[in-house]
Amino acid sequence: MAQRVIKEIIDQQKIGPGYFKLVIKVPEIVAQAKIGQFVHIKWVAEDSGADPLLRRPISLNRINPAEGTMTLVYRVVGRGTKVLSKLTAGDKLDIMGPLGTGFSISEDTNRVLVIGGGVGIAPLYPLVNELVKQNKEVILLLGAESAEEVIDLSSFEEFDLELKVATMDGSLGREGFVTDYLAELEQEIDYIYTCGPMPMMKVIRDWAIDSNVAGQASLEERMGCGTGACLSCVCQVKIDGKDGWTYKKACTAGPVFPLREVIFDE
Ligand SMILES: Cc1cc2nc3c(=O)[nH]c(=O)nc-3n(C[C@H](O)[C@H](O)[C@H](O)COP(=O)(O)OP(=O)(O)OC[C@H]3O[C@@H](n4cnc5c(N)ncnc54)[C@H](O)[C@@H]3O)c2cc1C
Ligand code: FES
Repeated sequence: MAQRVIKEIIDQQKIGPGYFKLVIKVPEIVAQAKIGQFVHIKWVAEDSGADPLLRRPISLNRINPAEGTMTLVYRVVGRGTKVLSKLTAGDKLDIMGPLGTGFSISEDTNRVLVIGGGVGIAPLYPLVNELVKQNKEVILLLGAESAEEVIDLSSFEEFDLELKVATMDGSLGREGFVTDYLAELEQEIDYIYTCGPMPMMKVIRDWAIDSNVAGQASLEERMGCGTGACLSCVCQVKIDGKDGWTYKKACTAGPVFPLREVIFDE
């Protein structure tokens, strides 16, 4: 069950242009957290009053049950993340979590493709770690604007897996979209996991349908309550085995959905 706690930040570091890594000790939440879940956070600062009013959803980048800590990696995009980036060790966060349905791993898959784009790489480290632990053969494709924005690159390089990077400015790996690698995959894939910008995941969804490969996509929809009450996070998802679609709440039914069932803005 999700908890709400107020805790002090242990550490916060800038790790790239506009990218921050924040560590917080929150054993109540860490003990229940699963890969692919998120926390909904709000800062507690005496001089900021109720601004910003709403919480912001951030994925779990590392879950460390032994130490009771979790790590969040985020990119500054607007008012909320800007305020968050100014906090330092000792400042307090109001945290609700763990929330949402995370990634699931099937025993029946062996060769797995994982594709992350931009800040969507943040929730993928715990997933890849678990896939490797379960002896899956992992092909990991990471895409970002530049080399400095490839989150967790050195950690991923420690795994025994096939890793390919694409950057838009060509500063690391292939220049261009990470999805350009899809046309060149030589081996059959059993399953796909992805998180990143919607246009990237739409290309991957279309490729998965054409290639008849199932998978899971983690959506980063805008959220209000994070608990299924406000409907601000609804997304369009196909109805199982039928024509047509329905709305689902990304905060409770997601953020991870079956890849081939998500209707990306079309
Ligand atoms: C389940 C989930 C997990 C997420 N995990 C992470 C994470 O690990 N790291 C991370 O950096 N971000 C993550 N996000 C996105 C993050 O929540 C938003 O970037 C953040 O809420 C923006 O808040 P803000 O106040 O800074 O920006 P706002 O002022 O609210 O918005 C500024 C800009 O950001 C865009 N934006 C707002 N919300 C989102 C969103 N949900 N997704 C994409 N763009 C958005 C707006 O379109 C606008 O252009 C996640 C979102 C969800 C739903
Ligand atoms: S964020 Fe309120 S219903 Fe999902």
